[in-house]
Amino acid sequence: MSALPTKLETLAIHGGTPVREKLLPYGRQSLDDADVQAVVEVLKSDWLTTGPKIAEFEERFAAWVWARHAVSFSSGTAALHGAAFAAGLGPGDEAITTPMTFCATANCILYQGATPVFADVSPDTLNLDPGEVDRKLSSRASSRVKAIIAVDYAGHPAALDELGQLAKAQGQRALLIEDACHALGAEYRGKRVGGIADMTVFSFHPVKHLTTGEGGMVATNDARLAETLRRFRNHGISSEARQRQESGQWFYEMVLLGFNYRLTDIACALGLSQLEKLAANLARRREIAAQYAAAFRDLPAILVPTVREGVDPAWHLYPVRLKLEMLAVGRGEIFRALRAENIGASVHYIPVHRHPYYRERFPSKQSYPVAEDAYERLISLPMFHSMTAQDVEDVIRALGKVVTYYQRKYEGKGERSHLLESRQSK
Ligand SMILES: Cc1ncc(COP(=O)(O)O)c(C=O)c1O
Repeated sequence: MSALPTKLETLAIHGGTPVREKLLPYGRQSLDDADVQAVVEVLKSDWLTTGPKIAEFEERFAAWVWARHAVSFSSGTAALHGAAFAAGLGPGDEAITTPMTFCATANCILYQGATPVFADVSPDTLNLDPGEVDRKLSSRASSRVKAIIAVDYAGHPAALDELGQLAKAQGQRALLIEDACHALGAEYRGKRVGGIADMTVFSFHPVKHLTTGEGGMVATNDARLAETLRRFRNHGISSEARQRQESGQWFYEMVLLGFNYRLTDIACALGLSQLEKLAANLARRREIAAQYAAAFRDLPAILVPTVREGVDPAWHLYPVRLKLEMLAVGRGEIFRALRAENIGASVHYIPVHRHPYYRERFPSKQSYPVAEDAYERLISLPMFHSMTAQDVEDVIRALGKVVTYYQRKYEGKGERSHLLESRQSK
């Protein structure tokens, strides 16, 4: 039975009773006693960092994502930086990426002194549009483009085959880097995300499918890239402390300019323990997504995320788009009304090129109409694997209550000028 309200109710923002008493966040980690125990064991061991848990986590993770190698990093951002380095990006080079992402995706290009080139997204998935990437590639000296960095927005894999072909068509110079920080466990055309692109980047931030507090990983099938990534995350040094201790050697050399981007054994122990629950977590997220999609079929002013044929998304986020043409208010008011109902929504993302740093550093007349239009309409609903059946029902009821109210208000009064004004609201 649908949890959508059958009659118009007074919204909490107007003094009505909220759908729930306590705020439901849009994302949250869940840890159990086994996770705590795994961390405690490492705290009592000889190795807090660069010890045996790192290799164990990397090997198990690589197997999980069907990749040959996995190299851990201290965050998803550090992992992206490693991938940008390993792709050979440097001053004078360019990388094509999406504006519909967290700024870290584009920042890794800047860390390497290279220039980000944005290409617009596809209207259905909000993932990098291969046609737009092709247009960007045709309009510039291709030798300057060293990477295409795609994002699996909300957990829906990007058009990896098409983007991979575009990268290959640049000769050996350009690599496809997949920012899969939203997409651990997602499947694409019969393969799991991790061994498809040249390098695939994951994040273990607490709102993700698996957490190590902070943490990240690069998966790849290429042994040479894996070796470069390992050195880069350890100051550019050719061997690791544990290898030297075990072999009784003291000698090491720094062979490239790297960073200390190492993940600790403490974090890897947590990651190993969390990995045990990943399949169940994914299944729960898929179940919630299916419940949302079924319920919102009855809300004509809501556009739910598209799932393309041959894809099984990982549902890090559940971003709906508002059909503002049917509503008396804009996204800002809907967001505030949901918050008053104690539903903690969020917005993903302000397109990267609109952030002040990017606007000032790369002033441009280029527009990205699909990303810009989506940004005005997007609201991310709560999505995390420990959501209870009641939590899911509350979200459905609150969105139904708020959206139906503003849709009726628009139909009744035809407040078009108000609509235009409110669309500018944040
Ligand atoms: C798409 C995307 N890329 C990169 C990152 C950065 O990951 P981290 O927070 O682990 O540094 C995030 C973080 O949320 C993200 O959503």
